[in-house]
Amino acid sequence: MPDTPQPSHPPVINRDHWEQVSGDYSNQVLSVFENDKQHLVARSIEAFAQKHPGATAADLGCGVGQFTPTLARLFKTVVACDLASTGVQATRQRCASYENVSSHRLDLSEDPMPFEPVDFALCVNVLIMPSLDERLRAWRCVTNQVVSGGTLLLVLPSLESVQMDLIQRVDNLIDQGHSCEEALAQGQSSRASSQDLQQGIHRLDGLPTKHYFQDEIEYLLGEHQFDVQEMLKIEYSNSRDADSWDWLVRAVRR
Ligand SMILES: C[S@@+](CC[C@H](N)C(=O)[O-])C[C@H]1O[C@@H](n2cnc3c(N)ncnc32)[C@H](O)[C@@H]1O
Repeated sequence: MPDTPQPSHPPVINRDHWEQVSGDYSNQVLSVFENDKQHLVARSIEAFAQKHPGATAADLGCGVGQFTPTLARLFKTVVACDLASTGVQATRQRCASYENVSSHRLDLSEDPMPFEPVDFALCVNVLIMPSLDERLRAWRCVTNQVVSGGTLLLVLPSLESVQMDLIQRVDNLIDQGHSCEEALAQGQSSRASSQDLQQGIHRLDGLPTKHYFQDEIEYLLGEHQFDVQEMLKIEYSNSRDADSWDWLVRAVRR
């Protein structure tokens, strides 16, 4: 039975939600840090740090700080920030032995940044808010936190991956003997409004989440004065997400 279509205005995912997720992170979020099959994110961080000794870094939307110690070991100073105070506290505990790490609770869509732009900014699955207004402000903030010539390493949910999953689901239903009409009705993601679908908003871990297609990422980064250097598929080792991928994007600010 298809779900009732949702209202067309995108829901606001508020701070309470992320506070609750950060308190139960391993059960509620696919950890890129733990499941990146080829360790592409870690390798990209290391490659930058090796070429730029003494560089500064930021972990924007650090969550519970899984990537922050890696940055702390490789960069001169690291600033970590997140909307959720539970996440910031967890990051502080995790990085207690590093004197070069500072952390802040802040909203990337609203708050002034309490630190200078850095040479290397990591932003893993943060620019995913369904509200266009909130997302555009967060994009502006994240891209402004990188110095000219500096690097932004982004992980973004892939729209191509969701689309492939839907196509395969419909195909499997047809293989099982369903008519095309039945397969399309059962296979589609009917909880999203047509506006959500146009904007690439699909549910991930039960949450309406912005997904991006490759050309869109290149376009958005260009609009923010960044050139894409590399775009790779991050594949995951846990069985639930084995067939899906995210985009790992390395871009340099002009
Ligand atoms: C999917 S988690 C990823 C966390 C972390 N980057 C990681 O890879 O483990 C998304 C994170 O973005 C943070 N976040 C969402 N909206 C934010 C905002 N407006 N400002 C700052 N952080 C935000 C959430 O609190 C959450 O910790």
